[in-house]
Amino acid sequence: MEEKKEDKFILLKNLYEEWKDCTRCDLHKSRTRVVPGDGNPYSLLVFVGEAPGEEEDRQGKPFVGRAGQLLNRLIEEVLGMKREDVYITNVCKCRPPQNRKPTPIEMRACFPYLKKEIEIIQPKVICCLGATAGEGILGKSLRITKVRGQVFPYPYNPRIKVFLTYHPAYVLRNPKEETTIIKDFEKLKELLTQE
Ligand code: URA
Repeated sequence: MEEKKEDKFILLKNLYEEWKDCTRCDLHKSRTRVVPGDGNPYSLLVFVGEAPGEEEDRQGKPFVGRAGQLLNRLIEEVLGMKREDVYITNVCKCRPPQNRKPTPIEMRACFPYLKKEIEIIQPKVICCLGATAGEGILGKSLRITKVRGQVFPYPYNPRIKVFLTYHPAYVLRNPKEETTIIKDFEKLKELLTQE
């Protein structure tokens, strides 16, 4: 039977309904809300970040703060796409206090949500923004300076390519790395058009 255009939207909405009152880890005590993924679930490309920050926790949407503005610019200027064309989500769906890095326990508690999002979307490429996103997706610790620009198979579906680059917030703190993230996005664009 032909898949209806709204099916993936409905599956993701149902998934969010299952998780919106989640208390699987301590982050629920300080969050304003669970921040689900956002964008086009029919996209070939999924971006994965770390966790919502203050603005994301307030608005209920991922990457809407300063890091999100840089991400939007890279999507438009390097990939030639619009933010609405891609899907954007996080390893942890709740804001850690003081924007600290989520703990391995928090990442594990939230992983079934991310895993299910990827199962529904079945993208061609998952682009991990920073080491925490890469660790969440690949399930192993890594050094982003060593692995950025590289491609790995997604452990739960090796046909999906996992690409790693810097987190945009890191680039905002280290502006000389902007040329590196631009180069990585150029490679990401090639990956999307390959075979
Ligand atoms: N940083 C992230 O990792 N995710 C967001 O949603 C916003 C900032």
